[in-house]
Amino acid sequence: MEQQYIGNSRWDPIVKITHWGIVGVVIWNALIVGEGSIAHIYAGYFLAALVALRIFWGFVGPASARFTSFPPSPRRAMAHIGDILANKKEKHISHNPLGALMAYAVWACLGVIIASGIAMAGPPPTVEYPVSLREIVRESEHESVGHYEERYEERDSEEDEAEEVFEEVHEAAVNFLYLLIFLHIVGVAFETMRSGNRTVTSMLPRGK
Ligand code: HEM
Ligand code: HEM
Repeated sequence: MEQQYIGNSRWDPIVKITHWGIVGVVIWNALIVGEGSIAHIYAGYFLAALVALRIFWGFVGPASARFTSFPPSPRRAMAHIGDILANKKEKHISHNPLGALMAYAVWACLGVIIASGIAMAGPPPTVEYPVSLREIVRESEHESVGHYEERYEERDSEEDEAEEVFEEVHEAAVNFLYLLIFLHIVGVAFETMRSGNRTVTSMLPRGK
């Protein structure tokens, strides 16, 4: 059955730009720049902007980009698997139900990567090291400076522990993202072969 989509092209420019922008940043941060380098962090903030733009577009963009066109529904995904097994080729305005689950999983995973990355890279602390003399004097009215330094060391190690947790979360989410990307590419290739439609080329700049 010939597949038809509403409009001239299935994906509008914002969907295409955010998709390939996200792909670019993932490759940049995973393979090109150093882990946690300045270039990595700037790219990370750019990634956050791309994901935010895509989410905004999911509420206000054209039908194929809207979240309401591809709700996250395991029930529909199971029905879609049934269609695949029965060799039924259905039409979808946007992602098919399995593709939809994949897109939400990728965005959620990117959300965790961005949050943990910003937690590590975040804004500089408001209290500078070494602390101001006035603060040391004020504290020393109650406790010895030695004790104060001890408390500082304690705070330092608590911060280190929190940072370690963010680092673990960041790394685990990145590894999970690699798994999702692998499944995504297999899914796109499978869908292209199965339905004979232009799934892959639809995301290209001039793809319909
Ligand atoms: C999808 C995009 C990203 C990928 C593939 C990625 C990958 C990685 C990897 C593999 C590490 C090493 C983890 C480890 O220490 O074992 C790392 C570290 C780091 N990433 Fe990302 N990252 C991404 C996005 C971000 C974002 C959005 C930010 C923040 C804006 C960020 C900030 C950092 C920082 C600060 C570290 C250093 C951790 C340390 O001190 O060891 N990353 N990243
Ligand atoms: C870093 C790697 C990748 C990531 C993180 C990624 C992520 C995504 C996301 C989040 C979507 C949903 C798009 C939206 O609604 O805005 C999507 C869709 C899509 N991606 Fe990727 N992608 C990656 C690599 C690729 C590659 C290499 C290809 C080409 C072979 C590709 C082809 C597509 C296509 C054709 C769709 C639309 C699928 C459909 O018809 O439902 N992607 N991708």
